[in-house]
Amino acid sequence: MKDWVINLTVVLADGRIIKTRKRPRKSSAGYNLTGLFIGSEGTLGLVTEVTLKLAVIPQETSVAVVTFPTIRDAAAAASKVLRVGVPIGAMEIMDEIQMSVINRTGATGGKKWKEVPTMFFKFSGTKAGVQENIHLVKDLAKAHKSQDFDFAASGEEATTLWSARKEALWSMLAMRKEGSGNEVWSTDVAVPISRLPDIIEISKKEMDDLGLFASVLGHIGDGNFHESILYNNKDPVERARVEECVHRMVDRALAMEGTCTGEHGIGLGKKESLIKELGLDTIGVMKAIKGALDPYWLMNPGKHNEMASPPHEPY
Ligand SMILES: *[C@@H]1O[C@H](CO)[C@@H](O)[C@H](O)[C@H]1NC(C)=O
Ligand SMILES: *[C@@H]1O[C@H](CO)[C@@H](O)[C@H](O)[C@H]1NC(C)=O
Ligand SMILES: *[C@@H]1O[C@H](CO)[C@@H](O)[C@H](O)[C@H]1NC(C)=O
Repeated sequence: MKDWVINLTVVLADGRIIKTRKRPRKSSAGYNLTGLFIGSEGTLGLVTEVTLKLAVIPQETSVAVVTFPTIRDAAAAASKVLRVGVPIGAMEIMDEIQMSVINRTGATGGKKWKEVPTMFFKFSGTKAGVQENIHLVKDLAKAHKSQDFDFAASGEEATTLWSARKEALWSMLAMRKEGSGNEVWSTDVAVPISRLPDIIEISKKEMDDLGLFASVLGHIGDGNFHESILYNNKDPVERARVEECVHRMVDRALAMEGTCTGEHGIGLGKKESLIKELGLDTIGVMKAIKGALDPYWLMNPGKHNEMASPPHEPY
């Protein structure tokens, strides 16, 4: 998303209204305030206006769905596709649990899915380009033990195939039993793409060993993946197990030179992880920025990077 933002209008804590930037494509004028406010989780100001770039609608788009014997094979195929440089619109991975949830909840208009690790590719470009890229991906996938390779013959079929990806979270939420205390803990980390097969495999095994029902879904082209864990939040033992599992996954991502969150953000839950990831000096710079823009802690207080209490008494 951040790459699509041209400029922002922001209301500051003291009531001033600023624009972060003008319209040319290129600018080296001043600090990058657009970048500063994006991802600050509302802790620095209220964004009231966002101007986005427009993209050219591609001549052709298509979707392919490819199954693999293991999540490691799928992740390895994805990493190969990236390293060869095949242009891909989107590349998503779902493990056998996630596919089973989608299949069982019937969220995709009655389509039946194999309950195995599956990758979803979106191709876009010219007609000839899309055809060529589909072939390249098919060959690379085959070299990584792919089983079925379905590609959409029509726009409608592409929508049906892609709907599995869109329904992933909702299907998982639909697994909760009413009144049971069931909740879905949804979290994410990101690592360098070369480490993705390792972290997904280890994290999955750990959840299985702890007896947790959890699925993995990844935006694999970004090295970013999500774990959705179905658990009973009225059961303190189970809750503690989930927490431990998430903390270990975050530590593992950091040990692999990754980040504690690819897109969910820090909020309250990952403040400690942010310190581990960046260190106190870097957090100190973030705190200085917070202090300069919002000395009275009016903007989403206590989130993101603050460690102790507000530096000043509130008004
Ligand atoms: C923000 O970008 C848009 C689109 O390029 C432009 O129309 C607008 O004038 C820009 N805002 C400012 C303050 O220059
Ligand atoms: C500023 O940050 C935004 C968001 O991260 C990014 O898209 C943009 O390219 C940056 N602009 C400059 C001039 O670095
Ligand atoms: C997918 O779900 C259907 C029910 O919706 C079930 O009949 C079928 O066995 C499932 N597929 C697999 C591979 O388990």
